[in-house]
Order: sequence, then C-alpha cells, then structure tokens
Amino acid sequence: MDSLLDFSGKSALITGAASGFGRSLAYALGERGAKLVLADYNADGLQETVAELEGKGVEVASLVGNVAEEAHAQALVELAVERFGKLDMAVNNAGIAPALGPMVHLDADTLDHQFSVNAKGVALGMKHQMRAMCAQKDGAILNVSSMAGLGGTPMGSSYGAAKHAVIGLTKTAAVEVGSYNVRVNAICPFFTATPMVDNPQLNPKGDIADLNKNLARGCPMKRIARVEEIVDVMVMMLSPANTYMNGIAVPVDGGMSAM
Ligand SMILES: NC(=O)c1ccc[n+]([C@@H]2O[C@H](COP(=O)([O-])OP(=O)(O)OC[C@H]3O[C@@H](n4cnc5c(N)ncnc54)[C@H](O)[C@@H]3O)[C@@H](O)[C@H]2O)c1
Repeated sequence: MDSLLDFSGKSALITGAASGFGRSLAYALGERGAKLVLADYNADGLQETVAELEGKGVEVASLVGNVAEEAHAQALVELAVERFGKLDMAVNNAGIAPALGPMVHLDADTLDHQFSVNAKGVALGMKHQMRAMCAQKDGAILNVSSMAGLGGTPMGSSYGAAKHAVIGLTKTAAVEVGSYNVRVNAICPFFTATPMVDNPQLNPKGDIADLNKNLARGCPMKRIARVEEIVDVMVMMLSPANTYMNGIAVPVDGGMSAM
C-alpha cells in the first residue's frame, strides 16, 4: 500500500464513532490497517460500528462514555496504551448541534451544553492524548471543528462559539507540543449529509432534499458534502506521511471560504 494511506500497526482513538464522520473514519482507517479505540455515549450505535469492523478482522477496543467527563477522556487513552502499546492518532470528533435560533434568544443552558461537549470535551480529550503522545515523542491529533469555527454562524451562535474554541485549543496545543513531534490540527467541514444534518427533524415541514438544497444555496458547488468527501481529507491529515502540517484549521467546504 502507498505509505500515504498505510496505517498498518498504528493505533487510532476516535470519539463519536457511533455515527456520521466518526463511524466512517473508523471504517476508513480500519480498512487501511489501523487498530482502533472507539468511543461514543450511544452504546448501541457504537456496538454496531465495532461489530462491522470486527467482522472485517479489524482489532477494536471500545468504551461507552461522555466526552465532557475527564475520567472518560483519561480512560480512553489508558485503554489505547493498554491494548495497543501506544496511541498514534486521536480524533476528537464527538459533537452536538443546538436547536437553531437567533442569538437574541440564546439561553444559558444551550451555551453551557455546547461548550461542555464541543469545546470542553475536545480540551480534556487532548490533555490526556497529548500526555501519552509527548511521552512517546510521536502522535497526531485531529479535532473536528466546522466552517462555523471560522466565521459567523447565524442561528447557531453557541455552536459557532464552541467550534471557534476548538480552533483556539488546536493552535495552542500545536505550539505547546510541536517540539515533542506531536502534530495537532483541525478540520472545518461545511454542511455534510451525516445524521446530524441529513435529519428530517430539522425540516419537519419539508422534505430532506429541500433542506439540503437550502443549506447549499450559498455554496459555490451548490451541494452539501458527502460524508466520504470529508473523511477522505481526515485520512490525509492523519496520514503517517503527513509529518509537518501542524496547528492549522483546514476548511473542506466546496469553496465557501473563497467567497
Ligand atoms: N455534519 C455536518 O454538517 C458537520 C459539519 C461540520 C462539523 N461537524 C462536526 O462533526 C462532528 C461529527 O458530527 P456528525 O456530523 O458525524 O454527527 P453525528 O450526529 O452523526 O455524530 C456525532 C456522534 O457524536 C456522539 N456524541 C455526541 N455527544 C457526545 C458526548 N457528549 N459524548 C460522547 N459521544 C457524543 C453522538 O452519539 C454521535 O454518534 C461533530 O463535532 C460536528 O459538530 C459536522
């Protein structure tokens, strides 16, 4: 296999692996030889991902838990080191979207919940991942931010703020641990057809195709992304041959940020 895509013998921790990007990334890395530590608070969805991978002969460990709890973040890293001897890659992907609404109606609970999962979850995850990676003087962390982390997020201010925080954390970590040969980057996808977005509940009055068309209206490519279009870039960013990219937030957005 081309070294760019060969993850044989590498271990990867992925949060939010019961669905969407996390599940597809687990399949993509497993197919390319990685051993996986998968996590989610959705136990049934996580078990489905694990069963599919084990059916293909991929080595998998898994843990059900909430990324906002530090004990879970620490246990995940310990599980990776115990099962696979080291932690080569970590993807802080678990996240939630808020109910849409203007900032003048923003409530404190929504803000707390967004920051708790989407920002604190990433920060605490990174804390323990970086400790293990700095000790082994090698590693790559990929945080899943969003286009909402790069610009204004009308009707989603709490989400946009938490996703901006993810980029701040990414840059700080990259500067702090770069000298240990640990790279920390973020990916910023535009709307993508995962269950978070391709969700009839978001558009109870219309059909999902209308909703997706509306979401894509301002995008130069006039469509939202397919899951694999984002996951393929995640694989490239995590590639063992990608050794000097550090501290960057990469938009994968069909040209939105060129507007
Ligand atoms: N789909 C999009 O358009 C889009 C765009 C940009 C960024 N993102 C980000 O991508 C990431 C993955 O989202 P997705 O689109 O695959 O959605 P998804 O809903 O399909 O998957 C998210 C996963 O995270 C898990 N999760 C949520 N909160 C958790 C918690 N507290 N602890 C543990 N697990 C938790 C869910 O159970 C789910 O399995 C999120 O961070 C999201 O904000 C999504």
